[in-house]
Amino acid sequence: MTVKSSREPARAELAKLGEAELLEVIRAQPVPAHVAVIMDGNGRWATRRGLPRVAGHREGVKAARAAVRAADTLGLQYLTLYAFSTENWSRPKQEVSTLMTLLERSIHGELPELMERNVRLRIIGRPNGVPPPVQRGIDEVVRQTERNTGLTLVMAFNYGGRDELIDAFRLVARRVASGELQPEDISEVHVSRALYTKDIPNPDLLIRTSGEMRVSNFLLWQIAYTELWITPTLWPDFGGADLYRAVLEFQGRTRRFGGV
Ligand code: FPP
Repeated sequence: MTVKSSREPARAELAKLGEAELLEVIRAQPVPAHVAVIMDGNGRWATRRGLPRVAGHREGVKAARAAVRAADTLGLQYLTLYAFSTENWSRPKQEVSTLMTLLERSIHGELPELMERNVRLRIIGRPNGVPPPVQRGIDEVVRQTERNTGLTLVMAFNYGGRDELIDAFRLVARRVASGELQPEDISEVHVSRALYTKDIPNPDLLIRTSGEMRVSNFLLWQIAYTELWITPTLWPDFGGADLYRAVLEFQGRTRRFGGV
């Protein structure tokens, strides 16, 4: 998609606008259906202030709330947040357990606002390994919001891109073993439909905070043609205006999906 007009101020100038003005600008162009975010930098945010890492995670929850509000206001259909990766289990035990409790309580605490905003919560990831009370708390919010028809908030929780592919290959292999599918007939559609995201469109835009230039095992299959936007801003400092800046830049990109 190329959006250019001789009357349009340079995007770099527009990016300096505040949240409300940016919203007005990006609303005048087609917006992405699905934005995914690797929320990174909570620990560094806290360490730079001489605070424990969990203080950064608490601030990170506020930034996640702001991102959901901004995504809903803009009218995105899907917002996917990488909340807990399978690699995150290797962090100190204390940080992992605090993070688990914090995530479950935050998700539960947001239920009234999710209902008010008509937001549906979905979880992608492996349920096994998550402490049962945490899993139950999250499942309850998924259940309560399942009939909502507005923004779908997809939370990647205990998620790993390679694990997702392994789980998908197992499903496809079972279909082959049962004789329902021939190996030579396996197509992209069969793999896509075996993923946790089977009924969710691929992300149009992937945002990563804290300046790291990697995809960290996130949605490996789904991001094949996704536009990347990486900002040095640490996740707790990321606000609605930053989400809108990413969308503004996305609107100026030409997507070729491997063509010319
Ligand atoms: C990234 O910073 C933080 C995480 C992966 C932890 C989970 C995210 C939050 C608590 C934000 C809120 C999310 C929701 C969905 C309520 P890091 O610890 O990797 O930071 P570092 O790279 O600076 O160490």
